[in-house]
Amino acid sequence: MFSEPILSCLKAPGSPDDSELIQEIDALVDLGSQTRYNNIGTVPNLYEKPAGDGSKIDSSVHSFYEENPFPSYEGLQEFGDLVTRGHNNPFMQKILESIGFNKKVLECGCGTGQMSHFLQLNNNHVLGIDASAKSLSLAIEHKLYNNLERSNFCRMNIFDLALKDEVFDVVISHGVLHHTHNAKLAFEQILKKVKPGGLIIIGLYNKYARVMTWLRSKMHRFWGDNIDWVVRTRIRDKEKARIWIADQYYNPHETWHTIDEVMKWFEENNVEYLNCSPPILDTNAEQGRNFSDKTSPGTHWQRVITQLGWIGSISREGALFDIIGRKRLLK
Ligand SMILES: C[S@@+](CC[C@H](N)C(=O)[O-])C[C@H]1O[C@@H](n2cnc3c(N)ncnc32)[C@H](O)[C@@H]1O
Repeated sequence: MFSEPILSCLKAPGSPDDSELIQEIDALVDLGSQTRYNNIGTVPNLYEKPAGDGSKIDSSVHSFYEENPFPSYEGLQEFGDLVTRGHNNPFMQKILESIGFNKKVLECGCGTGQMSHFLQLNNNHVLGIDASAKSLSLAIEHKLYNNLERSNFCRMNIFDLALKDEVFDVVISHGVLHHTHNAKLAFEQILKKVKPGGLIIIGLYNKYARVMTWLRSKMHRFWGDNIDWVVRTRIRDKEKARIWIADQYYNPHETWHTIDEVMKWFEENNVEYLNCSPPILDTNAEQGRNFSDKTSPGTHWQRVITQLGWIGSISREGALFDIIGRKRLLK
């Protein structure tokens, strides 16, 4: 069941923002047209199939994650363990602090929902959406097992979000947009759901650092899983390792991006740049209380040198960087 603050953000796919959905045990029902949207097992379903340009790419990615629900829950079945892991991860802890208390948060491409579960701390209400019913069923299993009433999940397509505009205080999409046919367009879709003055946080594969992953993908079939640092040092469970390797080296579609490119998306869409993680070298990026404080973007060359440095750092863990911005109040 959805918590009340999140239910009020939902609408039927393609319907106007003043329409309302009511929840029944096994379906969501559009109050106006009485159209029923039946759950898939335990998963509420407002998913619209990819259509138009890029639908082939998006469909193949959606099928891929149905086979490979990501990330795996191995060892994190207890909410306490997941919270400890979150608090020990400086990036996750800083995101939680940036969100604050009593906020409405949307996570686009939440996978199995681990980040959504962590972010509902501090009395936040979180909606995780994803195209993969299998991933969401694991998220809901964890929610029910741990009785997490402020974690909510629904199957949706980022390109057809069944959500009212400008209703969330924070929108996050971590490791997702680069798996769509058009990452910039996907960014523009999720930005519509952020309130003016709200935060947008997006994590993408970096163009410089991801080259190393690409090289490893070419060697994986000869060297085996040991080529991967994360598998060598962090993963004990065989199934978790299989899914990590598939996600990193055999994904049907991915694109690579730079800090400057995302800054341009921000400028074109009335978003103020706040911060970057990992930080841009030789700026005040680490001096803010958290990611919601404005920091210096540095110069173009500072950003180039920062990203060259990432070839030797974040590349071993998937080469993801996150940029944080604030939707400006006035157009
Ligand atoms: C690499 S996983 C990331 C999961 C999670 N955000 C994390 O960081 O662990 C990418 C997720 O994006 C989802 N996804 C990809 N394209 C999507 C789309 N068009 N609409 C909704 N979800 C999508 C996939 O189903 C998958 O669960």
